Amino acid sequence: MTLKKIVIAIDGPAASGKSTTAKLLAQKLGYVYIDTGAMYRAFALKALTQDVLERLQTDEAFLRQFVDSTDVRLSESSVWLDGKDVTTEIRTNDVSKSVSKVSALKAVREKLSAIQKKLGEAKGVVMDGRDIGTAIFPNAELKIYMLASVQERAKRRYAELKAKNAELGVTIEELEAEIRRRDEEDMNRAVSPLRKADDAIELDTSALTIEEQVERIYKLALEKINDCKGAVQ
Ligand code: DC
Repeated sequence: MTLKKIVIAIDGPAASGKSTTAKLLAQKLGYVYIDTGAMYRAFALKALTQDVLERLQTDEAFLRQFVDSTDVRLSESSVWLDGKDVTTEIRTNDVSKSVSKVSALKAVREKLSAIQKKLGEAKGVVMDGRDIGTAIFPNAELKIYMLASVQERAKRRYAELKAKNAELGVTIEELEAEIRRRDEEDMNRAVSPLRKADDAIELDTSALTIEEQVERIYKLALEKINDCKGAVQ
């Protein structure tokens, strides 16, 4: 049976489990998963590679040209930057450290917001990020705001990095400080700061397993799909 299509917006602070949950939820519903953080990460990777992070903050004309000449795409579970697959590269700690600087830039947000709105136009999407329920899809049929304690988030990020790379070179304490700093920047930027939409359902995942998180949102999604006038076939 094909389910009717709605938009599910999942927002929340760094490492709160949004991506894993959103991906599994999309699979379960037969929806498309859109990781908007990956798009900001691709921009940050380019800025780092070209060593222009500082210049982007101060040189408006350069920023404009940088944004106009950058092509970011998502396909299935891959992220493409200017025609190159950067799915793995965007997950390094260096990118995590600098991405808030890039995602605070209005020109970058405008470009990516337009792409994200287009990607969700046909509905049937689970989109995760920081401003999906507030700015990208303020009329999303289901909005979730996921959070977890900073200690729990640092623990999860550490385990995730460790699974990929035995030689980590970073401690849980450093990751915790890093996550705090990123939350601070994401919540206090001028353009579309991270905040819970008034009509979002808050989900604290500190004591939940991934399966439990997915199951909770899945149930809410089915309820919405069944009684939703905005759903499309
Ligand atoms: O979800 P993530 O950690 O991969 O996101 C990377 C960064 O991108 C995060 O620090 C804030 C930014 N971001 C944003 O500003 N708006 C979004 N919709 C998604 C991510």
